[in-house]
Amino acid sequence: MTVLVFGKSGQVATELQRAGGVLAVGREDADLAKPEVCAEAIRRVKPHAVINAAAYTAVDRAESDEDLAGLVNAAAPAAMAEACKTLGVPFVHLSTDYVFSGDGTQPWQPEDLTGPQNAYGRSKRAGEEAIRAVGGCYAILRTSWVFSAHGANFVKTMLRLSQTRDSLSVVADQVGGPTSARAIT
Ligand SMILES: NC(=O)c1ccc[n+]([C@@H]2O[C@H](COP(=O)([O-])OP(=O)(O)OC[C@H]3O[C@@H](n4cnc5c(N)ncnc54)[C@H](OP(=O)(O)O)[C@@H]3O)[C@@H](O)[C@H]2O)c1
Repeated sequence: MTVLVFGKSGQVATELQRAGGVLAVGREDADLAKPEVCAEAIRRVKPHAVINAAAYTAVDRAESDEDLAGLVNAAAPAAMAEACKTLGVPFVHLSTDYVFSGDGTQPWQPEDLTGPQNAYGRSKRAGEEAIRAVGGCYAILRTSWVFSAHGANFVKTMLRLSQTRDSLSVVADQVGGPTSARAIT
């Protein structure tokens, strides 16, 4: 059984590789800015399932780079979904709580109305909508505040800063669900 994973160097994909049994591809193999290249990779490998753990995840940078964020987070997943549908294999796509508005005090439910507040959230919601429009056998997994020993994340940043600073200023009005990349796998 071959499970093809996009996003080889990322937090979630690294944990998937650690768990074993997957074929991971990175930017050098399939650049998500070129959606057709991603679809071609799927057609070439003919996997039994595909997991897209790659994304344009630079939330702040996406504000001035919305076209590229849209290509990577929406057009590429759509092309992957299309290729999976053609092959008749399941497609798992990772998404984010950034598709929601951030209002309210209750945990979000899958069927809640979306309302992204920034370019990253818009691009991820566009990816979800494009996958749904393609159809086929797919699952969209929304997660939040991903951390792992690998890569860049809030937990590692706090640990690093704690080595050199006596106090830290951190926003106090954000609520989320810290999720270990390993738990996602
Ligand atoms: N991190 C979070 O807190 C968080 C929260 C909610 C949802 N999510 C979602 O969860 C998923 C996995 O997140 P993560 O934290 O594992 O991500 P990550 O560590 O930021 O890794 C992102 C991966 O995407 C790849 N990538 C970016 N642009 C690419 C391109 N043009 N072509 C090919 N690959 C490209 C990166 O490759 P390079 O190393 O080459 O750049 C990297 O392998 C994503 O869908 C993300 O939106 C993450």
